[in-house]
Amino acid sequence: MIVVDGLRVEAGKSVILDGVDLTVPPGRMLALVGPNGAGKTTLLRTIAGLHRPSRGRVLLEDRPVHSLRPQVLARRIAYLPQDTALSFPFTAYQVTLMGRHPHMGRFALEGAADHEAAEQAMAATGTTRLADRSMATLSGGERQLVLLAKALAQDAPVLLADEPVSALDLRHQLAVLQLLRACADAGRTVLVVLHDLNLAARYCTELALLAGGRVLAAGEPAHVLTPAHLHEAYGVRAVVRRDDVTDSLTVTALETT
Ligand SMILES: Nc1ncnc2c1ncn2[C@@H]1O[C@H](COP(=O)(O)OP(=O)(O)O)[C@@H](O)[C@H]1O
Ligand SMILES: [Mg+2]
Repeated sequence: MIVVDGLRVEAGKSVILDGVDLTVPPGRMLALVGPNGAGKTTLLRTIAGLHRPSRGRVLLEDRPVHSLRPQVLARRIAYLPQDTALSFPFTAYQVTLMGRHPHMGRFALEGAADHEAAEQAMAATGTTRLADRSMATLSGGERQLVLLAKALAQDAPVLLADEPVSALDLRHQLAVLQLLRACADAGRTVLVVLHDLNLAARYCTELALLAGGRVLAAGEPAHVLTPAHLHEAYGVRAVVRRDDVTDSLTVTALETT
């Protein structure tokens, strides 16, 4: 369970997030949506303990994340960053195995269970065939999938994923969202940043719409995805309809306003 309470985050002189409240119980998958620069990445990084709030707090099972030791935090929260352009001098398998580090003692070597977890995570993300490839030679989408494998190998009850499908083709978009959905159904807490509102409405029972560092609306898709909210957050005129095939809401943005 993640509780974000009255969060304010500043960087230099600018206020990036202000008055953000959010609760994600276990077994839920919440989509964080909103325009570029809304503060989605900053919110995820703050929940992951990488930014200190200037006001408010983030609670993980009733304990402030900023009071937890890094290794304890890494066993509880897996964070898949948005920026995957870094090229590591490691193979995809080595990177996936790094997800196991929070579970290992200092200076300890990986054991059979760690290798098994890494192999399972690669199989789940369809990256087994990339295992021996250098991260530097992978495509953006392949790198994104390997970093997801690393996050899954970490086996943490909370999974934060920042735009995990933005570089993926149609099939892999579905595969990753199905995988995250399965994680939530298995009892994990999943918070995922998505730009595609249609996918967000289809795979997540709850959405939070962030704009200008505040939560503009949160709740079920029908409550969040209204023409008025979309106008206010994105500056577009949009229509929202229910799709007969998926039985979920779809958004068509018609023009900028
Ligand atoms: N270290 C920083 N210093 C100043 N401004 C920052 C810093 N990090 C992010 N910002 C600004 O905060 C806003 C939110 O950024 P971000 O959280 O990355 O948004 P999103 O992920 O929703 O696109 C942006 O306007 C960005 O330029
Ligand atoms: Mg971002």
